Amino acid sequence: MHPDVEKILLNEEQIKERVAQLGRQISQDYQGESILMVGILKGAMIFLADLVRHINVPTFFDFMAVSSYGAGTVSSGAVRILKDLEKSIHGRHVIIVEDIVDTGLTLQYLVENMKARGPASLKICTLLDKPSRRKVAVPVDYNGFSIPDEFVVGYGLDYNERYRNLPYIAVLKPEIYQI
Ligand code: XMP
Ligand code: MG
Repeated sequence: MHPDVEKILLNEEQIKERVAQLGRQISQDYQGESILMVGILKGAMIFLADLVRHINVPTFFDFMAVSSYGAGTVSSGAVRILKDLEKSIHGRHVIIVEDIVDTGLTLQYLVENMKARGPASLKICTLLDKPSRRKVAVPVDYNGFSIPDEFVVGYGLDYNERYRNLPYIAVLKPEIYQI
C-alpha cells in the first residue's frame, strides 16, 4: 500500500468485477447500435480504458477536458472547456464517462452542452457517485459504486494531480490533504 494512503475503499478485484458488469450491461443495452464514449479527462481515462474492453458492440472514443474553477477538493460549478470533442456527435449514441459525480455541477454543464449538439441519445456512466453531496439532480444511467463523502484518489482520480496511477480507490491520510 502507498505510504500516503489511510485506507483502501475499493480494491483492484472489486473494481475489476464491477467494471466488467457495467460493460456487459452497456453491451446489452446498445445491441445493434454503435456507441460514442466521451471520456472526461483526465480522471475517467483509466475507467474508460478498462470499461470498453468489456463492451462488445462497435465503440468509438472521444475526449473532453474540463476544469471546474477552483483548486483542491471542491467544485465551484463554473465549468471551462479545456479540450473540446474532435468530431460532431450529431445523431450518435453518446455515453459520457466520468470518474466521479459529486455536486453534479460538472455533469449538469456537460449534459446541457452536449444535448445542444443533437446526439441521438445521451447517457451518463460514472465509476463513483457521492450522492450525499449532490446540489443538482443529474440522471446517472450507469454507476459503478456509491461512496460516502470522502475525498478519494486512485484509478484515475487525483489529489493535486498525484495518485492517479494507484490501482485501487483510496482515502489519503489527513495530513496529506493539508499539503
Ligand atoms: P462535481 O462536484 O461537479 O465534481 O460533481 C465532479 C468533479 O470533481 C472532482 N472530484 C473528485 N476528484 N476525488 C477526486 O479525485 C474525489 O473524491 C472527488 N470528488 C469530486 C472530479 O474531478 C470530478 O470530475
Ligand atoms: Mg481532479
